[in-house]
Order: sequence, then structure tokens, then C-alpha cells
Amino acid sequence: MKENQDNLMEKIVSLCKRRGFIFQGSEIYGGLAGTFDLGHLGGELINNIKQSWWRKFVAEREDMYGIKAAILMRSEVWEASGHVAGFSDPLTECTKCQHRFRADQLTDTKKCPDCGGELSAPRQFNMMSKTQIGAAEDSSSTAYLRPETAQGIFVNFKNTIDAYHPKIPFGMAQIGKAFRNEITPRDFVFRSREFEQMEIEYFVKESEWEKSFEHFQKEMLSWMSELGIDMEKVHELEVLPEDRAHYSKRTVDFEFDYPFGKKELFGLAYRGNFDLTNHKLDYMDPDTNERFVPHVIEPSFGVERAFLALMLSAYAEDGEGENLRSYLKFKPHIAPVICAVSPLLKNKPELVAKAREVYALLKKEFGRVMFDDNGNIGKRYRRQDEIGTPYCIVIDFDTLGENPDLLDTVTLRDRDSGSQERLKISELVSKIKAQL
Ligand code: GAP
Repeated sequence: MKENQDNLMEKIVSLCKRRGFIFQGSEIYGGLAGTFDLGHLGGELINNIKQSWWRKFVAEREDMYGIKAAILMRSEVWEASGHVAGFSDPLTECTKCQHRFRADQLTDTKKCPDCGGELSAPRQFNMMSKTQIGAAEDSSSTAYLRPETAQGIFVNFKNTIDAYHPKIPFGMAQIGKAFRNEITPRDFVFRSREFEQMEIEYFVKESEWEKSFEHFQKEMLSWMSELGIDMEKVHELEVLPEDRAHYSKRTVDFEFDYPFGKKELFGLAYRGNFDLTNHKLDYMDPDTNERFVPHVIEPSFGVERAFLALMLSAYAEDGEGENLRSYLKFKPHIAPVICAVSPLLKNKPELVAKAREVYALLKKEFGRVMFDDNGNIGKRYRRQDEIGTPYCIVIDFDTLGENPDLLDTVTLRDRDSGSQERLKISELVSKIKAQL
């Protein structure tokens, strides 16, 4: 089982590079650990993940305000949030090979897992990425690249109230980059130094925190399932008090069965009124004129972890030997390419012209449409299957009227079953739309 699972991870990493989903950051200079660059297909897939999240948690709700805050933030923000003092992992270093490890991830904290040398006593290592702003290099110009998008929300709490006068309960949401100087970035994009988060801070009266916590617990599960994550591999974990982040009064982690173990996918925390109190912010109820510090429920999602869980859930194989086929069974609304359009033969100008016409029609309608005339049809199908394209459309001689009954019809092949149906060009848009 373990062997197959490792193998699966290798297959996913190799597919991501080969088919242009994800590349190592700064690769031509030897790579920069913990950073990744998106290729065209990875960019499309991740955009679809983020759009689906935004639609469900922001656009379709009345009580949510989306923001886009700066990545660079003043050091005072991180002093107030407790990150300067408390956002650290225990670091241990081998006295022989100088390799560094997170002490809490080792089974033997005395012996180096790489060379057997002696490990130093663990010390706390702050994971925030610090930088200097402006020309003067004194402490007044120190800023941090945010380690969580949440603080960008808290520092805009007052602006949002002044601008929109929301009634409690309401939420603020943001999608954006976060940076953590992880001691040991690993497992492909799972633990990166630069990654994206999709976060909500939902402001409630203290007496109502449990109701909102349960609401978001359900909503998070329902979004994962809508996205196409294999829900049999998702497990909820009530995080023990000693394992919670410094701000949390309750945390439920959603874990996923990755090939490298059961690990965190997303998290849901009850942050109490820790952050708003520390930033000296409060809320005045417009009905009662009562001032109080709202409490916060925080659903937090890592984009790269969503991507990885989705790839692992979607990867499938069938057939054997030469007929072995691998495909990604993405739902159509998430697939980087919704459909590919091909002429049966690329050296027949009349087929190519008709295929281009159909391609233009669908491209205008759906955007994520590919024109594919590379190699023979069988190879094109395999290539599209591998990147998870749900539909392949082929223009053949019948389309041109060789069989007059089939004039202006095409074949539409379904990725998962491999079955084909013949339908009119004029029916294509509504047929595909119905699946989105
Ligand atoms: N604002 C709360 C917060 O940041 P977190 O559990 O530290 O909580 C939230 O992070 C989510 O961000 C995680 O559940 C995970 O999906 C993602 N995440 C955290 N660290 C990550 C890393 N080094 N690489 C990729 N994703 C990460």
C-alpha cells in the first residue's frame, strides 16, 4: 500500500511538470526550496479553485465582504497579533552534517535522521519572513511578508465597518499570498515557503460563536465535496488545547490521506476576540448603541493543499500494458480545459477550417477551450485525458456532409467512459453548459 501511495505522489509530481501544471521555483538556477511556479494549466486549475471558493463563500452570500490587503505589513501588526513572540517552530541542528529539522517532527530528537550525528537542543525559530522597506536600514523600516492573510482582514475591520456599516454577524474574506520560512519545506507543494490562503474572519457575538462554528464546519465540507476532493480521504480532527495556535480557543482540522500520511488540509478556528482586542478595535451595535469586541470564527484554506488533494483525488488509471491510460477526472467547472476541438486529419484544410469555426464558437462561450491537431486522434485523446479535459470534439468528413444526414454534426467524447455521441454543432454550447 505504502509503495503504491509513494508511486502515486511521483506520478502526480511528474505529470505536473511534464504537462505544465507546476514547476520548481527558480528551477534553471537549481531551484529555490519551498517555492513553485505555475504553468498555464496549473494557473487555470488554481484560478478555478479560487473562483469556486469565492463564489460559495463571498459572492453568493449577503454577509461577506471581500478584500485584497497588502502582503507587506508593518511590524506592529505582527507584534499585536502575537506572531513576533509566538509564531515559531522548534529547530534542531545536527552537530555533524549541519542539517536542520523540526524537532516536533522527529521520532528520535537526539539522533540525526540523515547521518546519525548528535542533534542540538531545540530552540524556537520564528517563521516570519522579514524585509526592509525604504532606503534606511534601521528597525523603523522593518516589515514582514504576512505569514497569514488573516491579519490583512483584521487591520481593515474598521475601514469595512466605516464603508459598509455591516450588521453583526458578518464576515470578511480574502485570497492571497502568505509566506513562512518553513524549516523543512517538503512533500511537493504541501509545505511551501510561499503559498496562498483563502481565509474568512467571521465576526459574531460571543454567545453565538458555536452556531457559526458549526455552520462553517458544514460549509467547508460541502465546498470540498463540490470541488471534487475524495471525501472518504477527509477526516475531522478536534485539535487538543496544547496543539492549537496561540490565538485559538477551539480548532478543528480537516485532514486528508496524502500518500505521505494523514495531514492537515484546511483548518477551522475559534479565535475568540484575541485579534481585535490586541489591535484595539471594537464594534458598536447600531440598534442598541452597545460597544463590544466581536468574537471570530476563522475558516482557513490553503490553495496549494486544495490543489494537491484535488490532483490526488482526480488521478485515475484504467487498461493495462500498452492500453494503460491515466486521466484526471476533474469536474467540468474545475477542469483547466473544458473541451478540446480537433479536425480528424490536420492535412485536410476543409476539416481544419470547420474545426477552427467550432473552436472559435466554443472559445468565445467558455474560454477554457483548446484547439488540438497534434498527432493522431488516439494520442490527442490520451493527452487530453491526462490533463483532465472532460470533452473532446472531433470534426470529421460527416461534419462536412459526406453523409448528408450528418451534416454539421460532430463527435463528442466523454473522458471518463471514453464513449462518444454524435450531436449537432448548434447543440454543443447548451450540452456543455448543462455540465458546468
Ligand atoms: N489564519 C490561520 C492560519 O494561517 P494555519 O493552520 O497556520 O492557520 C491555514 O494555516 C492553512 O494554510 C492550512 O490549513 C493549510 O491549508 C495552509 N498552509 C499553512 N502552512 C502552509 C505551508 N507551509 N504550505 C502550504 N500551505 C500551508
